[in-house]
Amino acid sequence: MSTIVSPSLLAADFANLQRDVELVNESAAEWVHIDVMDGMFVPNISFGIPVCEAINRHAKVFQDVHLMIEEPGKYVEAFRKAGADLITVHYEACRHLHRDIQLIHSTGAKAGVALNPHTPVAVLEEVIEDLDLVLLMSVNPGFGGQKLIPGIYDKVQRLKELIEKKNSKALIEVDGGVNADSAPKLVEAGVDVLVAGSYVFGSEDPKATIQQLNEL
Ligand code: DX5
Ligand code: ZN
Repeated sequence: MSTIVSPSLLAADFANLQRDVELVNESAAEWVHIDVMDGMFVPNISFGIPVCEAINRHAKVFQDVHLMIEEPGKYVEAFRKAGADLITVHYEACRHLHRDIQLIHSTGAKAGVALNPHTPVAVLEEVIEDLDLVLLMSVNPGFGGQKLIPGIYDKVQRLKELIEKKNSKALIEVDGGVNADSAPKLVEAGVDVLVAGSYVFGSEDPKATIQQLNEL
């Protein structure tokens, strides 16, 4: 068994983005995690469509785009054109979530929905069968390098139960505070995809760190 690792470029060196994308290409990571923030949905601004296009010119791995923006439906096609293989929108940012999921699929991308720490998994009951992935935030979104909220382990189990009950194919991704201590417990709880930013890019040997997460 191996775990999909999605290193978050939010913790990369933005002045050496090509180098860090190539590092991910050469590592055991199958995915790369791309965090888009608008300063409205979250209290921080990261980068937008032109930077995603630049990443796409170098990335050889599956591009996992996490939209932390208001009204994400307006930008789905643009992010797909910029190279997104999976587009994840926040439940809390979508007035018409079902429509946004259909819109993502209509572009040919995989569709994910992210839940903030305070949002119960039960809100996905009516859409879970349509989803390729559910992203559970294990920190409040907006910043890298935060400490994981421990309630995440039980939440992963509740999501797993919902996925099984509805016979959904959705993968479970966890984002925020993933490190040597939390990662094995998350995988044990049923996580399929680990996002890791500061733990990977802040380590002495990012490729070895990715390898270690992949082997869980
Ligand atoms: C936070 C982002 C994360 C972030 C995780 O809002 O969604 O993807 O990069 O960073 P770490 O792994 O450092 O907690
Ligand atoms: Zn993220």
